[in-house]
Amino acid sequence: MARPAPITRPGRSKTKKALYTQVSSDLRHQDGVVFMNYGFLGDGADAPRLLPEDEPVRASIQLYHHVAAAVPLKNKDVLEVGCGRGGGASYVARYLHPRTLVAVDFVPGLIDMCSRVHGGITNLRFQVADAEDLPFADRSFHAVLNVESAHCYERPGEFFQTVFRVLRPRGHFLFADFCAAADTELFEAELADAGFLTTSKRNITPQVIAALDDNGPRLRAFLAAKLPWHLWAEYGEFAAMPGSTTYQRYASGEWQYFSYVLQKPAAATRRKNANPTQA
Ligand SMILES: C[S@@+](CC[C@H](N)C(=O)[O-])C[C@H]1O[C@@H](n2cnc3c(N)ncnc32)[C@H](O)[C@@H]1O
Repeated sequence: MARPAPITRPGRSKTKKALYTQVSSDLRHQDGVVFMNYGFLGDGADAPRLLPEDEPVRASIQLYHHVAAAVPLKNKDVLEVGCGRGGGASYVARYLHPRTLVAVDFVPGLIDMCSRVHGGITNLRFQVADAEDLPFADRSFHAVLNVESAHCYERPGEFFQTVFRVLRPRGHFLFADFCAAADTELFEAELADAGFLTTSKRNITPQVIAALDDNGPRLRAFLAAKLPWHLWAEYGEFAAMPGSTTYQRYASGEWQYFSYVLQKPAAATRRKNANPTQA
């Protein structure tokens, strides 16, 4: 069986950069908004203990905890790609104690905000960088973290290859994102082509929907109080508010949300195009 063509999304990154630059501008007076993910509400069994000041953003932290705490990060060198408003990087740096955490995003306004709001965390620094052109040396990091960002990338397969390059042998790629259910196999073929071994994979759509349901009333109140009315519908879609078309895509199963723990083998050789005619 022929291997499916790689995922390419012409113009996607450019459009997404404009979108997130606009979001950064719309939220320029909202430094308290430190996450842009849907969140994760599980059965509570592996819920992290949080400081009181982190409780209001528990669901978004739990998404990070679910992904990042899958392997020990203590005293490791970690890269986060697509850090947004930095709340996840702040959580990982403060609670999981990596030696260093470099968090990058391609929107300069977001990195300015992150440096201002989370600047006092000594093992964390922020930098402007594009996921599709990461300016780091080969084998620089023990782990790379990527939460709800890769759906924006024009060529996710090339991103996976770059992550593989900057990871040390046996390093971990801790990855979570959504995609159309029909694209899941393509993503997984591209991860395998990059050379990764899959240690674990979980469909976390139910936990994400539970978080969206829980957050709905707070989101509605935030929009009404903080943003001009002409932005409410757009941000309701952006944040997958219950009742929105975006929310319905998850509820119907058309889109699904997955988390993966992937590993670069000890003796790493990339398998890209090793045998493109085999499935
Ligand atoms: C949905 S937000 C998630 C942010 C953060 N991970 C969180 O969970 O709060 C997606 C983020 O990915 C960033 N992003 C999208 N494409 C990118 C790229 N090519 N390089 C770097 N960052 C990118 C966006 O600017 C945005 O901050």
